[in-house]
Amino acid sequence: GSLEEAVYPLFYGWFLTHKSQSHTKEKGKKFLKTLGELDEFKEHWDDFGGAASETGINLEEYFERKGILHCTTEYSDYGKVKGAQEYAELEAVKKFYSTAFCLQISGFFITPRTAGARVQLTDKQLELWPADSEKEAMPSEELPHGSRAHITLGCAKDVEPKQTGLDLLEFVKLEKEGQQALAEKDIDQGKLRYFGKGMWMLELYENVTVKTIFGGFYP
Ligand code: A2P
Repeated sequence: GSLEEAVYPLFYGWFLTHKSQSHTKEKGKKFLKTLGELDEFKEHWDDFGGAASETGINLEEYFERKGILHCTTEYSDYGKVKGAQEYAELEAVKKFYSTAFCLQISGFFITPRTAGARVQLTDKQLELWPADSEKEAMPSEELPHGSRAHITLGCAKDVEPKQTGLDLLEFVKLEKEGQQALAEKDIDQGKLRYFGKGMWMLELYENVTVKTIFGGFYP
């Protein structure tokens, strides 16, 4: 055995290349702009509490974004999180560390708390997805493995990024229950659905493909 201790990152994930970050931000902005201008959206400003002025909400300003765009697989908090060691020792994590992957973005969503991109993982990518990720977030539900996968695009003031994955799972839960949207509209980028409480999901007609590198983040 080695006397050296393992060094754990703050989190593991897929990190978008510079070009893919610009591309994704652009698509995300387009979504927020289109959504913000829709009459259907304006009818539900109340969902966003006091944020709406007489002229509406500027969604691009409402959501703040910091740091490099990424899709978190495992949050290990420098090894402090239970299961951090098991994750670091997964065959897939060792094998794919520093490997390039293309991720598929299948949708964009917002809630009063977060804005995110929904990521559809392939079987190979799912090997890097922690077994209990969905269970940890929603203990009483049986949600599909990988259904929490997302890229945080922005958070409302004082909201932590972790919230984006939890918000996505709220949509997944409604889908699983067969919940009908309260409003539905075809827009340029895809099919937009409103589920109440400020929850808007855009299902893209065409996935956005982004280039990434899998690895750990050590700020
Ligand atoms: P997300 O992956 O939804 O964007 P922080 O800066 O708060 O330390 O978080 C670093 C990254 O790890 C963020 O991208 C964040 O959210 C994710 N993250 C933070 N805490 C958790 C957690 N408890 N579970 C899963 N992901 C987390």
